[in-house]
Amino acid sequence: MCGIIGYTGEKEPKETLLQALKRLEYRGYDSAGIATLEGGDFRVYRCEGRLEGLEAKLKDEHLQSTIGIGHTRWATHGAPIERNAHPHRVGSVVLVHNGIVENYAHHKAKLEAAGRKIQSDTDSEIVAHLIDQKMAEGVAFVKAVQLVLPTLEGSYAFVIMSTTEPNTIVAARNGSPLLIGIGEKEMYCASDVQAILSWTNKVVYLEDKQMAVCTPSRYEILDAAGVPVKSEVKQIKWTADELGKVGYAHFMLKEIHEQPRALTNTIEGNINHSDEIIAIKDLGLFRKNLKAINRVSIVACGTSLHAGLLGKYYIEQFSRLPVEVDYASEFRYRNPILERDNLCIFISQSGETLDTLAAMREAKSRGVPCLAICNVRDSTLAREADATIYTNAGPEIGVASTKAFTAQTAVLYMLAVEMGHIHASLFKTQYQELTREIVRTPFLMEKVLGLEESIKKAAAEYQDFRCFFYVGRGIYYPVALEGALKLKEITYLHAEGYPAGELKHGPIALISEDVVTFVLAPQASSNPPNNPTTSRVYYDKLMANLEEVKARNGKIIAVGTENDSRLAERADVFWALPSAGWAINPMLLSIPVQLFAYHVALNLGTDVDKPRNLAKSVTVE
Ligand code: AGP
Ligand code: GLU
Repeated sequence: MCGIIGYTGEKEPKETLLQALKRLEYRGYDSAGIATLEGGDFRVYRCEGRLEGLEAKLKDEHLQSTIGIGHTRWATHGAPIERNAHPHRVGSVVLVHNGIVENYAHHKAKLEAAGRKIQSDTDSEIVAHLIDQKMAEGVAFVKAVQLVLPTLEGSYAFVIMSTTEPNTIVAARNGSPLLIGIGEKEMYCASDVQAILSWTNKVVYLEDKQMAVCTPSRYEILDAAGVPVKSEVKQIKWTADELGKVGYAHFMLKEIHEQPRALTNTIEGNINHSDEIIAIKDLGLFRKNLKAINRVSIVACGTSLHAGLLGKYYIEQFSRLPVEVDYASEFRYRNPILERDNLCIFISQSGETLDTLAAMREAKSRGVPCLAICNVRDSTLAREADATIYTNAGPEIGVASTKAFTAQTAVLYMLAVEMGHIHASLFKTQYQELTREIVRTPFLMEKVLGLEESIKKAAAEYQDFRCFFYVGRGIYYPVALEGALKLKEITYLHAEGYPAGELKHGPIALISEDVVTFVLAPQASSNPPNNPTTSRVYYDKLMANLEEVKARNGKIIAVGTENDSRLAERADVFWALPSAGWAINPMLLSIPVQLFAYHVALNLGTDVDKPRNLAKSVTVE
């Protein structure tokens, strides 16, 4: 899931390519490289590791070119070393690739049999050979690319240059994101729009199996047969400024603090304030599908899956429809039972996660209505879904997802309330109260952010522990999973999330004075409809689980509700949330677990925004 960039225009491209790669580095950072074309020959610069290495290498290089391509890698085939770094140059061709060519070994064997020397261990270099081979037979550049693409299995986005057409960049996509940016006498190709927003906000998103041929003054989109096709130019509203850190040390911290505003943006426009009712504007005509459904599948990966688990509680409690939640990577291959009166919901911040996309394609092929919940406008998932509800959280750059998670949760909450209304399983007073509660949530979040100083202190105190449990019950259990994932991702410490009742079935064997257990035990000012005792029962049971941990000398960090002296007395550390309903508490609880992970990571000196081995958008299986 590398980041790729291409430029053809009038300016010398070094700075443009480097700046774009900086914005794309969240997609992978195993190596970086650029290639330019001048005087009929390529100049290729590549460097293992972060972009800084490449910047240093290029510092005193004076380039004379007006065209170039660049890449920041998340290795799938071959170690993250310079030899495997992109761009890959072969004869008259140089290319960068995002994705996996699954049948590369088959091609490689044939190329080697034909006497070609392969320099790297990547699947990508093979494609450069295949194009060069065609060109050596006399086929023109664009045609050669077009002939090679159908022989490739797997997913790809390519940006390619050739010495034979020194102003032209060819881009091609199948499964991995790619767009064309249209400037004044210049064209860009990029994995995502953030990379090029400083120069243009006019973009064309390539569809799968399409190619684009770009010169400084024009671009042409071709289908798989090489026939020009019409394309829609989109105007992007995010500004380059929205992508900066605006004074925060890290994007992750900025994004944690942005949550009240992000949530306001998520909710805004979806509330009819005079009737106190939720009506999600993005649902549009898709709303009619909601009436006929009798079962819901929620499919996602990682943090988005955790939001999906919260969605299960919301939809089941508000609309009384059964909900199952599945990892996209599992859903796709398990031949799920799907009927036309089911609804499939796919959740993805990026809208480019390949597992989630593939799962949606599977559901669509069975004729099931597919709804996406997405943060990135016009991403592939959003474009392919029958309808998309946008989370409107603004760009999320930190690899560890934070504001997208709470925004996804808010969308699922609103959707569940609306479904409860449509399925007549909520009384008017109930959905009105639920509407009021979500409108209040951003203000409560502001209050929770005020806990940061105390969280910082605890982070310093507990940063040397090596094992953390996160436990909750009912609707707080998905937040336990998310808290553990956040800590794991950015601190590399061992953390596990569990339903609190499961501890005694095995994991409790690990509890000792060296282990910290996060107990997520807020009280609730309201309960699920028709279940007036749920919160109380959960709370009491959770307190019993806390005692089990204490009896084994485990350390306890508890997140509860203000004025809960019982919990405060039993915990080593206690953070108090403002009082809120059971369905709102998960959004409030998320903030302390995010901040704790952030401050531990900061103290341990890990790379918070770009943790090792991860990438923001996982566009490989
Ligand atoms: C979150 O902190 C992770 N980096 C990861 O689990 C992420 O949520 C997952 O890869 C799904 O991404 P998506 O929401 O863009 O589909
Ligand atoms: N498969 C290519 C490589 O390993 C590209 C990887 C990717 O897009 O993540 O270099």
